Amino acid sequence: IFHFVISFLLAYFFGSMPFGYWIGMLFYKKNILKLGSGNIGTTNTFRVLGTRAGVAVLLLDIFKGSVGALMAYIWGPAPTWTVMVVGLGAILGHTFSMWIGFKGGKAVATSMGVLLMYNPTMFVIAFAIFLTVILLTSMVSMASMIGFTLVTLLSIFWLHDWLLSIIAFALTIFVFYRHRENIVRIKNGTESMVHWGLGYWR
Ligand code: G3P
Repeated sequence: IFHFVISFLLAYFFGSMPFGYWIGMLFYKKNILKLGSGNIGTTNTFRVLGTRAGVAVLLLDIFKGSVGALMAYIWGPAPTWTVMVVGLGAILGHTFSMWIGFKGGKAVATSMGVLLMYNPTMFVIAFAIFLTVILLTSMVSMASMIGFTLVTLLSIFWLHDWLLSIIAFALTIFVFYRHRENIVRIKNGTESMVHWGLGYWR
């Protein structure tokens, strides 16, 4: 249990690194907590700082989820389920980051990084769902919420993986909660859309 707690805390540490915020402050002198949607995630980084920073934050936020999940293995071989549970530490880090007063992101990219380590096939499926919904609706928030919901349903009815089902279900509720402002904007027709032609996010 001691080993487990250390792994979990290390995962939290990696997950808590707010790359969107750091890159904005360091390279652009812009505080993304105060611009766009105010979120530290990939979408708002694209929106406020542009494509290069957005791609960097997408990769770094997925990567920190994966690295966090892999902290399950620092003591030697461990069962696969520990990857998911330790990975939760990274997701908590991203969403309640100690660097920015325990505020944080909407859990999307970091959860994907954990999923990549736990079940790569499911990662690919989730990513495909996510991209499809973005292409259809031009709304990343919509893709996030539908993506988490479908991963939960697939893990219950297709994979029959009860651990993934429970965690994906809990994360789905959390993701909807964190997207509550987006949901209001979607209802009002004011949610920001991806501007394909220009390569910019509005
Ligand atoms: O990654 C979070 C995404 O689903 C929505 O982000 O900045 O549009 O609230 P944002």
